[in-house]
This record gives sequence, C-alpha cells and structure tokens, in this order.
Amino acid sequence: MTQPPKPSGSTFPSPKGEVSLVILISGNGSNLDSIIQAINNNKVHHATIRAVISNRPNAYGLERAAQQGIPAICLDHKQYENREAFDNALLEKVQSYQPDLVILAGFMRILTPGFVRSLIGKLINVHPSLLPKYQGLNTHQRAIDAGDLEHGCSVHFVTEELDGGPVIAQAAVKIDSTDTAQTLESKVRKKEHKLLPLCIQWFSLKRLTMIDNVATLDGANLASQGQRPTDDVLDDM
Ligand code: GAR
Repeated sequence: MTQPPKPSGSTFPSPKGEVSLVILISGNGSNLDSIIQAINNNKVHHATIRAVISNRPNAYGLERAAQQGIPAICLDHKQYENREAFDNALLEKVQSYQPDLVILAGFMRILTPGFVRSLIGKLINVHPSLLPKYQGLNTHQRAIDAGDLEHGCSVHFVTEELDGGPVIAQAAVKIDSTDTAQTLESKVRKKEHKLLPLCIQWFSLKRLTMIDNVATLDGANLASQGQRPTDDVLDDM
C-alpha cells in the first residue's frame, strides 16, 4: 500500500535540526515537484519546504505547491517600479521564512547584487548546461548548433556573476544526431530532477558549503565543474 505523502510545508518553527527551504520559481515547477517527491520519499532528509514563491502569477508550480499544503506566494514583478524594488520585496518575503537554503528552480529573473549578497552561501540555482558553457538562455539549441557531443545541467551556488558561481555538481547526457532542442531539453530535465535533490540532500546533511566563493563537499574544495555523480547515485534519488 502506498503511504500518503508527508506534508512538506508545515508551520513554524522548524522541527529541531530541520533545514528550511524556500523555493523560487517562474513556471511549470517540474524541478519543484522533484524536490517535493524527494522529501516525501525520504531521499532528502531533514528538510522542509517553507514556501514557494513565483514572480509570475500563472506559474503552474504554484498549484503544485498548494496541492501539497505548501505556502504558495506570487510576487508579480510587473507590479514593481523597477528591479531593485521587486528584489527588495522578494528578499523581505524570503527572509520572513528564515530559510537555511533558497533554491532557484526555474526562476527566470536576473537578481540584483544586493539580493544575492544577502543570501550568499544559501542560494543555489539549477541551470540547463554544463557550465561554464552556455550561460543564459537557449542552452539546448546552442549545444546542438555547436556540434557538441554532450550536454547537461549544473547546480551551482549563486554569486553576483550571472550563472557564474561555484559549481556544485553536474550531470551529462549524450547528444544524438536526431536530437532537437525539445528532445534534448527533456533528457536534460530528467537529470535536473535527480541532481538538484541530491545537492539539497548534501546541504541538509551539512556536507555542502560555500566559503570565500569556493564550494566544498565533505570539507574538500570542489573542482571547477563540481561533482559528476554516477548514474547509480542519481538513479537512487
Ligand atoms: C529548468 O530546466 C531549469 O534548468 C531552467 O528552467 C527550467 C525550469 O523548469 N532554469 C534556467 O534556465 C535558469 N537559468 P521547471 O519549471 O519545470 O522546473
């Protein structure tokens, strides 16, 4: 018999030792869903999602969160005068949940340096390329156009440099001659759904930190391209 899902978004305060997560999204929220599932299936321990915040009112991820009883909040960036004003409001909302870790899971806005500095070492992002290749948008098509044989995704700490903070981990996929941007995106996204929860698990077990702009896992500095977990490790998530 399947167990009913464990509610991910309980109320304050966090149970002792639990890591509080706030997740920022802009759209579908499939990565959000993978985090919810990983927590419900005990693949990510000692972590509770305190809130999901979207900058777009119609983001389907908000529904996913609400269905799980997680506070689902929209701060529509169009309602703010400028980027600073939006980021100040976003920061205030995020900080109100006292997060240990803030996860950009398909959050499609450039953040101001002030926002990033306030959360330094607590802010991670999933990006659909093997960084430092293909920062920014249209990563799948760019990898195909370049004739690359492999592509993938990265999870990295966020710093003031766009898509440039220290990489925590990467997962690669082969590019086949028949791949289109859509098929490649779908292959990469499946990897994201394993890689991001794995990095959150490392963080919640206190194995992962960023000190002086260097990411460390189990006390050792990570290489510039982070960890490349084996398929076995990813498949177990
Ligand atoms: C993901 O593929 C993520 O890597 C990408 O947005 C998608 C969101 O999908 N993020 C970026 O491109 C950030 N630079 P989801 O809403 O289904 O999780």
